Amino acid sequence: MDFKMEVAGLLAKATELSLEDALNTVEIPGNKAMGDFAFPCFRLAKVFRKAPPMIAQEVAEKLDKPAFIENIQVVGAYINFFVKKGIYAQEILSKVLAEKENYGKSDIGAGKTVVIDYSSPNIAKPFHVGHLRSTVIGNAIYKIYEALGYNCEGVNHLGDWGTQFGKLIVAYHNWGSKEAVENQGIQELMRIYVKFHDEAEKNPALDDEARLWFVKMQEGDEEALTLWKWFYDISIKEFERVYKMLGVKFDAYTGESFYNDKMAPVVEELKAKNILKESEGAMIVDLEHKNMAPCLIIRKDGGTLYATRDITAALYRKKTYNFDKCIILTALDQNLHFAQWFEVIHLMGYDWYKDLIHVPFGLVSLDSGKLSTRHGNVILMEDLLNQAIGETKKIIEEKIHL
Ligand code: ARG
Repeated sequence: MDFKMEVAGLLAKATELSLEDALNTVEIPGNKAMGDFAFPCFRLAKVFRKAPPMIAQEVAEKLDKPAFIENIQVVGAYINFFVKKGIYAQEILSKVLAEKENYGKSDIGAGKTVVIDYSSPNIAKPFHVGHLRSTVIGNAIYKIYEALGYNCEGVNHLGDWGTQFGKLIVAYHNWGSKEAVENQGIQELMRIYVKFHDEAEKNPALDDEARLWFVKMQEGDEEALTLWKWFYDISIKEFERVYKMLGVKFDAYTGESFYNDKMAPVVEELKAKNILKESEGAMIVDLEHKNMAPCLIIRKDGGTLYATRDITAALYRKKTYNFDKCIILTALDQNLHFAQWFEVIHLMGYDWYKDLIHVPFGLVSLDSGKLSTRHGNVILMEDLLNQAIGETKKIIEEKIHL
């Protein structure tokens, strides 16, 4: 039974409106206290030549009250309908049971593509609860779009490039060992990464050394890249274990490093379009017209940035998937970052900048403060999941023995 249609039918009979007009006028009130459906009588004033509240009163008196209606109330110029909850629930539940996993599906997205960038953890850092949100919300959005008939492309934009790898290489040379990394994987990488930050506070020369190693990576140095690839493989193996536990999959693992050789033409394009400006030796896009800090594209030392890779990724995704929407999930502390580079895409003259959507979520913090890999203040995802599974099992056991 289509309740809205039924209500429209009653109204059409009582007002001599066509069924279509009645259906178009029936509203679903935002406030449940106003019923499940509401019929505003303003538009009838011309025909009836009376004040809308009076029309509401008269029409309501003429209405038959069918079995599925609990109550009809007139409030001002509105006639509010309350459906009997039991009948409503029965209707919906029997539909769910009959249609099973197809309940709610539609094909409104047929022929359209949505790229969803989610999870996107940082390599060589453990998968922590902060990434759990991005993973599960992104996965839910993916499934909803899929059920609506869209073609979905799930992308894991791994944080797999950047100065942190220079730090990790220095840390490995100073305090790591092959055996320990092989045996303990990402835990050991995290241990030496935290150690690096502790030591660098006392000895800033370590930071310079780390920067040099990152430069080597960028220049294609074999030793640097071999270590990087090793850390990468260890991390991916670990992430996939967690994804398996969660039943989450991706269509592409195109992380930040994927764009290394794709950024130069984008920087050229920015230059050609006259939106790149020099500022204190760096290259930026001015965003003053939007009251935002400038978007940094090239650092003083020539290095590219997170935003440079995101802009390049957006152009790549548009070309590769021709998306109708590109949705990216991160914690809300990155709001400015996304607002900035979305505007850069706009300035480049691409009207699809409107189809870029950042979905932010709240930060996850511990009693001991904000999560920070650098300081070892993290909860490992795998531990958390195992604990949740354990607790749930306990509850199930208890219930079974009741
Ligand atoms: N790696 C980032 C982080 O852990 C998230 C990346 C989100 N995706 C993107 N295209 N920027 O915060």
